[in-house]
Amino acid sequence: MAKVDLYSGEFLPLEMHKVRIVQKLNLPPIEDRLKAIAAAGNNTFLLNTDDVFLDMLTDSGVNAMSDQQLAAMMVADDAYAGSATYTRLANKLRDIFGMDYFLPTHQGRACENILAQTYVKPGMVTLMNFHFTTTKAHITLNGGVVEELVAASGLEVNSTLPFKGDIDIARLEASIARHGTEKIAFMRVESGTNLIGGQPISLANLAEVRKVCSRHGILLVLDASLLADNLHFNKTREESCKNLSIREITRRTADLCDIIYFSARKLGCARGGGICIRDESVYLRMRALVPLYEGFLTYGGMSVREMEALTVGLEETMDEDMINQGPHFIRAMVDELDRRGIPVITPAGGLGCHLNAMRFVDHIPQSQYPAGALGAAMYIAGAIRGMERGTLSEQRNPDGSELFATMELLRLALPRRVFTLSQIKYAIDRIQWLYDNRGLIGGLEFVEEPEVLRFFYGRLKPVSDWQEKLAAKFRNDLGDSL
Ligand code: F0G
Repeated sequence: MAKVDLYSGEFLPLEMHKVRIVQKLNLPPIEDRLKAIAAAGNNTFLLNTDDVFLDMLTDSGVNAMSDQQLAAMMVADDAYAGSATYTRLANKLRDIFGMDYFLPTHQGRACENILAQTYVKPGMVTLMNFHFTTTKAHITLNGGVVEELVAASGLEVNSTLPFKGDIDIARLEASIARHGTEKIAFMRVESGTNLIGGQPISLANLAEVRKVCSRHGILLVLDASLLADNLHFNKTREESCKNLSIREITRRTADLCDIIYFSARKLGCARGGGICIRDESVYLRMRALVPLYEGFLTYGGMSVREMEALTVGLEETMDEDMINQGPHFIRAMVDELDRRGIPVITPAGGLGCHLNAMRFVDHIPQSQYPAGALGAAMYIAGAIRGMERGTLSEQRNPDGSELFATMELLRLALPRRVFTLSQIKYAIDRIQWLYDNRGLIGGLEFVEEPEVLRFFYGRLKPVSDWQEKLAAKFRNDLGDSL
C-alpha cells in the first residue's frame, strides 16, 4: 500500500488514481432548489439529477469505474447461454471467495428475494447484525421476521469502537435458545453495516458467529455488498489482519460463510449482483428461481458488459490503494464535521458521512421525520442530495402505527473516486451554514404514502413555510451566491 505522510502532519485523503473522464454539473440557484424539492414531494429520491450539484444519494451503481473496467466491457461475449463472460466472472468469484457455485442476479435485492423465498417460511426468524431495507422487506413479504443482534454499543451514535457492526454473541446464543433452531431461517451478517452508518464487523466476531452457527447447524449468510470498506477496516483496525493482504482477509472472511451474496452496484463498482454458494445442495435449492425471476443461469439479468466490468472490479477490490479511497474521503469529511461540533456518526465508517438528525434537528419530533426534513433542507442549502435513513425508511407496524427508527440519519454517500476534496469542502461549508440555522428547519408530513418501501416514492410536504424562510436566510447570509 502507498503510505504517504504529509510534512504538516495533516491527514490528506490522497487519490492514487487520476481523473480522465468528467461530467459537467449544474448548481441551480436557491429559488430553483425550493421549486425542485417541492416538485419532488420533499423526497430526494424524486429529484432529477439536472437539479442536483453533489449527488450523495447513494454509492449504488454510481462509483467511478476504472479504464480497465471500461476496456473490458468492449470484449464482452454476447450470448444467451454459456457466455465466456459468465465463465470469467464465475472463475473470478471462485478465485476470490473459494466457493464453487455462483448464481447471477440483476442486483442485490434479487439475491434477497431468492434467499427469502427459499429459506423464510411464515413464522420464521432471520437473525442479523442489522437489517437493510430491501432485506427486511423480502423477509417480511415471505411471512418471516427479522431479529437484530448488533451489540448495543454499535448503536451508540458517537463512539470510538472500531467494529460497531459486531454481533452480541451472548444475545445470539439466547435468541437461538428462545426460538429453537428449526424456527431460524438463517443468520445474516452484513459487512459495512449500512443503516448504522456503514460500520464494519470484525473478522474475529465473524469467527465467533461461525462457531455458534456450526454448533446449531444454522446457515451463515454474508451480505458482502459493502465488503470493500469492511476489508479496509479489517486491515487497518484489526491487529490480527495487519499483516494479511486484502486477498487473504477476503478469503478468511469467505471461509467462515456458507453463502455470500452481494450487490455489484457496490461491490466491484459495476451493476448487478450474485450469490456465491459453498455446497451443491444449497445451490440446487435456489437455482430454479434464477431463470424464473432474473434470466438464464449465465447472465441472471445482468448485461454481459457489466459482468466484464464486475470481473475486473472484483480483482481491483483486492488492491488496498483502491479500496481505501472511500474510507479516507469519508474520514476527512466526518472528522472535520466532528471537530466543528456538528453531530455525525463516529468513528467514520464506510459508504458515506452520516449526519445525526436526532441531534441536528432535535426540535423536530420523530413523527415529523427529522432525517427526511434535514434531507430536504440540505438540498435547499446546497443542491446536495442525501438519503433519509430513519423513520421514513421504516415500514409501519402491522397495526398501522409508526415504527420509530433507532437512528435518524441523513446519509451523504461518497461514491468512490467521484468527488474531489474541494467538493467535500463545499459540502462541509453548506452543512455548517445549515447547522448554524438549524432552528429554521421544520418537519414534514406525508401527502402520499406507499405501503411497501414508502421512502422510495412517497410524497411529503413541509408542516409550515419553513423552507421559504430558510431560503430567505440563505440569501441574507450569502448574497447572490449560488
Ligand atoms: N444489501 C446492502 C447492505 C445494501 O446496501 C444494498 C443496497 C442491498 C443489499 C441491495 O442491493 O440495491 O443492488 O438491490 N443499498 C443501496 C444503498 C440501495 O443506497 O445503500 P441492490
